Amino acid sequence: MANPRVAILISGRGSNMMALVEAAQNPSYPAEIALVISNQANATGLSRAKAAGIATAIVEHAPFGSDRERFEGAMQEAIESRTADLICLAGFMRLLTPWFVKRWEGRMLNIHPALLPAFRGLDTHRRALCAGVKIHGATVHFVSAEMDSGPIIAQGATVVRGDDTEQTLAARVLEIEHRIYPMALGLLAAGRVQMVGGRCVIDGEVENHQVMIAPYVR
Ligand code: GRF
Repeated sequence: MANPRVAILISGRGSNMMALVEAAQNPSYPAEIALVISNQANATGLSRAKAAGIATAIVEHAPFGSDRERFEGAMQEAIESRTADLICLAGFMRLLTPWFVKRWEGRMLNIHPALLPAFRGLDTHRRALCAGVKIHGATVHFVSAEMDSGPIIAQGATVVRGDDTEQTLAARVLEIEHRIYPMALGLLAAGRVQMVGGRCVIDGEVENHQVMIAPYVR
């Protein structure tokens, strides 16, 4: 069977999008990047995608005003024109309607810069520092009607240091994002993600007893 084709939706710099594009350049990767769509005409991610030889489209939300379904209809057309099977949200800064979410149920992923279900929404690193958590990270999950709430495919974590700033923490979490997003998409594309009772079970997961304890003290 042919590899699934993926549309990536972005609004900004597109570093996660590039991590997916680079992973998919490996001939053994089980998915193909068919299209990158941005709702922002000046998103830096667009030129990065073009430079990598990926088809791009701009579907701005502003002309549709408050009619989110018509905006999504325009995105849907662009996605269909490139016959994409899966969607990856990668820093896409628009909320999606239940109509669009339902249409892509089980076929649309998002990356969130926190260990869900902690810190849904924006400003995750600042809020993690304020809360004083000792471990923080990132999550790849299916998109469901409720924001940042769908079944979790993969997570990665880092220790939060006492001297971390929002920027230093964000940089370490971003490195994790760039590892777990290609991994999670690869697992889904290879048919290795099963839904059991609303949770994701991964085929072929090997035994791993790694633990992370913070703070690390002598
Ligand atoms: C990432 O931190 C991602 O987790 C969040 O938005 C940011 C997008 O960054 N959803 P980039 O555009 O992928 O560089």
